[in-house]
Amino acid sequence: MDIIEIKNLTKIYKAKEFWKNDIIPGVENINLTIAKGEVFGLLGLNGAGKTTLMKVLLGLLKPTSGSVKVFGGDINERKNRKKIGYLSELPYFPKYLTANEILDYFCDLFDIPVKEKAERIKSVLKLVRLEGKENIKLKNFSKGMQERLGLAQAILNDPELLFLDEPMSGLDPLGYKETRDIIIALNKQGKTIFFNSHILSEVEKVCDRVGIIKDGRLVAVRKINEIKKTYATLEQYFVSVVAPSAR
Ligand SMILES: Nc1ncnc2c1ncn2[C@@H]1O[C@H](COP(=O)(O)OP(=O)(O)OP(=O)(O)O)[C@@H](O)[C@H]1O
Ligand SMILES: [Mg+2]
Repeated sequence: MDIIEIKNLTKIYKAKEFWKNDIIPGVENINLTIAKGEVFGLLGLNGAGKTTLMKVLLGLLKPTSGSVKVFGGDINERKNRKKIGYLSELPYFPKYLTANEILDYFCDLFDIPVKEKAERIKSVLKLVRLEGKENIKLKNFSKGMQERLGLAQAILNDPELLFLDEPMSGLDPLGYKETRDIIIALNKQGKTIFFNSHILSEVEKVCDRVGIIKDGRLVAVRKINEIKKTYATLEQYFVSVVAPSAR
């Protein structure tokens, strides 16, 4: 079953100032389907359109034209929203709250029953290796610790479909491995993961398929094991697609 269906999707940004006529292409004419249980990696240079595509899938941005379906329907329906998790590329949490307070708040947003909250928070904090840090205010968290908290928040509701926008940025090398292990563990439970990352050595270890966006267009979609038949590393393939002259 396809869990994400993207048809002829175009998102164009317009300048916010009414006196300007600027039009900034976000993504153009994207067609893509993601199957249930797949780990899909979206790759592309800075400004290529990865976050734009993810935000349209999440219902945070409206398509200019074309359509997206998630779980066969509209992502803005509550029943569908409840089944997704999202780590944004720049997670922001109020600095005066503790990790525990923030996750408690998100438990309420996700309608997690009060009696299950403490157990749920404990288990996600353990998974992202923040156990023992739950009562520290975020202003005393390092960048990587905030990123880990973002991941904890994204998986708090045990989502069927997880969107991760650069989940490894700011993490230490052990953090890469821990995030990779979390993605693999969730996938083994049958969850679908759609993420983007610039850390290609990690992407090639966890993804079934990758897509490459170049200037807003999806220029390649291939299985990792097929890529590895021709290229020693995903990085080599990526460079050959986005910058053929740099080979
Ligand atoms: N809110 C916005 N208003 C106008 N233009 C935007 C907005 N957000 C993104 N863009 C433009 O859309 C294009 C795609 O941006 P996007 O954030 O999707 O890139 P990205 O692939 O996620 O890049 P990065 O790797 O740097 O995160 C860029 O040209 C960017 O300037
Ligand atoms: Mg981005």
